Amino acid sequence: MRLGNTVDTPGGGMVYAVNCLGPQFEGSAFAAELLGANLHEPPGDELVDAVEEAMARYAVVVLRDQQIDDAEQVRFARAFGPLELPPHMGMRPAAMKVRVGYGLYDISNLDADGNFLPEDSLRLIFNKGNENFHTDSSFNTLPTKWSMLSARVLPPSGGDTEFCDARAAWDALPGELRERAREATAEHWLWKTRVDAGKMQISEEMRNAMPPARHPVVRTISESGRRSLYLGAHVTHIVDWPRDESDRFIAAINGHIARPEFRYVHKWRLGDLIVWDNRCTLHRATPYEVFRHKRDMRRATINEYGPEVSSTTALGIPPPKVELTSPY
Ligand code: OGA
Ligand code: MN
Repeated sequence: MRLGNTVDTPGGGMVYAVNCLGPQFEGSAFAAELLGANLHEPPGDELVDAVEEAMARYAVVVLRDQQIDDAEQVRFARAFGPLELPPHMGMRPAAMKVRVGYGLYDISNLDADGNFLPEDSLRLIFNKGNENFHTDSSFNTLPTKWSMLSARVLPPSGGDTEFCDARAAWDALPGELRERAREATAEHWLWKTRVDAGKMQISEEMRNAMPPARHPVVRTISESGRRSLYLGAHVTHIVDWPRDESDRFIAAINGHIARPEFRYVHKWRLGDLIVWDNRCTLHRATPYEVFRHKRDMRRATINEYGPEVSSTTALGIPPPKVELTSPY
């Protein structure tokens, strides 16, 4: 497998083409498409190797033409690590009608009957939060590895996804900021963007179910050995730093990662399945007309290791006893 080439794998097996899509930085590249996969079949070693190799090099890989169902998406995801199951967040009613298959996150604007969600639905509020550059589940103690988003229905315009390469951002970071980043630990909190937007009341149960988590600001990706910046919209503060210093630093680093030269904008095609590395990229959704056009996206997310659980199960937090009435 080589950049821009179709190369026979030894033994005459499957052939995959990997083409660079996104910005090329000095000595590295960021987003690529992988052609020739067929996820209707169980992923074999050759495909797993090809995806892992492409992910180590690029960090965003688009598998084209995958008109898959939920079970096929989950099967593919599990070939790379244990699923991170959706948490109840202290608010998921037991009787909620779930629209998507086991293990998947619903990123759509639709209810279980395929109709548009109402304006005050929880999912629309969460989707709105996705319009800030973030990295998935950075508020979890468990280290989320990759997300895999499948496009099932797309709006005619809007609803792109933008990605930033936080490895290239680290490589280009000025020396003084690098020194400070190296010694910084950030706290990440799920409710941050929702509280900032003034859209949500956080109950005690919700607060307890999704506590903050702390992670170093600089991390090394084991598969490539590259360093990366790990911040994004879920960060509330740098641990043990004065508030104003912390705020300025977070704004500076997040602003730096989001610079256009580190960015790849994906215009979705039906059947695209995008795999991205949450450890070294940020992403955000762009707006679309949510009460006019359907956008059905489904996400599998995997951890680097550990059991296949949600963050709430991992923390031993049972779902709320009192059932909420909202079906959303
Ligand atoms: C996500 C996400 C962006 C989009 O699924 O985690 O942020 O464009 N999605 O829907
Ligand atoms: Mn996301």
